Amino acid sequence: MPSIEGKIRYAVVGAGWISQGAFMPGVGQTTNSLMTAIVTGDPEKRHALGVKYGLTAYSYEEYDKMLASGEVDAVYVATPNDRHREFAEPALQAGIHVLLEKPMAASLEDAEAIEAAAKASGAKLMIAYRLHCEPGTIAMIEAVRNGEIGTPRYFTSTFSQMVKMNNHRAKGGYWVGPVPDMGAYPINAVRNLFQAEPVEVMALASKTDRGLGADDTVSVIMRFTEGRQASFTLSYSATDIDRFHLVGTDGLIEAMPAFGFGEGTAISYRVTKGSETEEHRAPVVDQFGGETDYFSDCILNDRDPEPNGEEGVLDMRILVAIEKAIETGMPQKLEPISRQRRIGPDQERKLELAAVPDFVNADTPAG
Ligand SMILES: NC(=O)c1ccc[n+]([C@@H]2O[C@H](COP(=O)([O-])OP(=O)(O)OC[C@H]3O[C@@H](n4cnc5c(N)ncnc54)[C@H](OP(=O)(O)O)[C@@H]3O)[C@@H](O)[C@H]2O)c1
Repeated sequence: MPSIEGKIRYAVVGAGWISQGAFMPGVGQTTNSLMTAIVTGDPEKRHALGVKYGLTAYSYEEYDKMLASGEVDAVYVATPNDRHREFAEPALQAGIHVLLEKPMAASLEDAEAIEAAAKASGAKLMIAYRLHCEPGTIAMIEAVRNGEIGTPRYFTSTFSQMVKMNNHRAKGGYWVGPVPDMGAYPINAVRNLFQAEPVEVMALASKTDRGLGADDTVSVIMRFTEGRQASFTLSYSATDIDRFHLVGTDGLIEAMPAFGFGEGTAISYRVTKGSETEEHRAPVVDQFGGETDYFSDCILNDRDPEPNGEEGVLDMRILVAIEKAIETGMPQKLEPISRQRRIGPDQERKLELAAVPDFVNADTPAG
């Protein structure tokens, strides 16, 4: 049941960079969502964020108590990837809706368990693919669907950042490394641009002497049906860049920035056909407010969100295949599969970007 103001009441689970710097300020930009609780392992955050946003604060040990409190309709889960199932599954089982950060989990088994819990309970599950509500991304997908570059043939992308050694991303293995963390973006983008699922993946990974737990740099090639390919390189040990090219039979799309968010970041793209290039610049929007507004709208109107559990699991099976391709050095076949739902213009949200507040015991992963 929503609050008496007709708004969906969220609990934030895990108060790190993305919760404090993007989700929490973003909620304030929506008209249909508010926060009522915070769940964190840090007593200082419980006090400071509880006071700042007027939230009831809980420890992780009190999670079930929070779910049963009657104070929340939905949780936003932004813990490290290997702690997603631990909070998503019991919430869904308790009938609480879940907005779950990407990647969905740190194993296919966990992702499928989360999806099964959503199906069994009827509570809604959305994977927090913020770009599914972002105007520039939606415009590009529409342009490709409308045949602006002819038949898409290949996609190539570079996405990197210099991850700090004190960030949780530097301390674990593959599942906190660049492939699940950053690869989720080109994988998800090309699946939606091609409107298809890959049938084979290959990967090559390299390590530097920086001492990261995962490989620093990974290059991936994915084969699709109908003669299509996608390749991308990801790195935790190189300067910031996020871009892609999508090349078709009649033209090409270049997007840069392609996956980012925040101050001054408008997803921008150019369509080139022959000697003509057309520039498209989307507005800077609050992508986190936008995805939250969309999810709350789905809850209030009893609609299944488009980036649902199936969308998350389709990315997860690719992330698992890449892990195996790195381990074995061999190409990995994927079972042919199709998805009926894809990003649509009704998902677009254009909320004004909120200011980033001061952090309490949190930091950006890079820069
Ligand atoms: N959609 C996006 O654009 C986007 C961007 C960045 C990250 N993400 C996703 O959001 C999630 C969190 O990323 P982040 O960048 O916010 O990470 P982060 O800054 O390291 O924060 C993660 C938070 O999780 C909590 N936590 C619980 N168990 C932990 C453990 N064992 N180790 C470390 N932290 C633990 C901590 O919060 P407490 O101190 O409050 O307990 C920590 O501050 C990841 O799944 C990531 O993929 C999404």
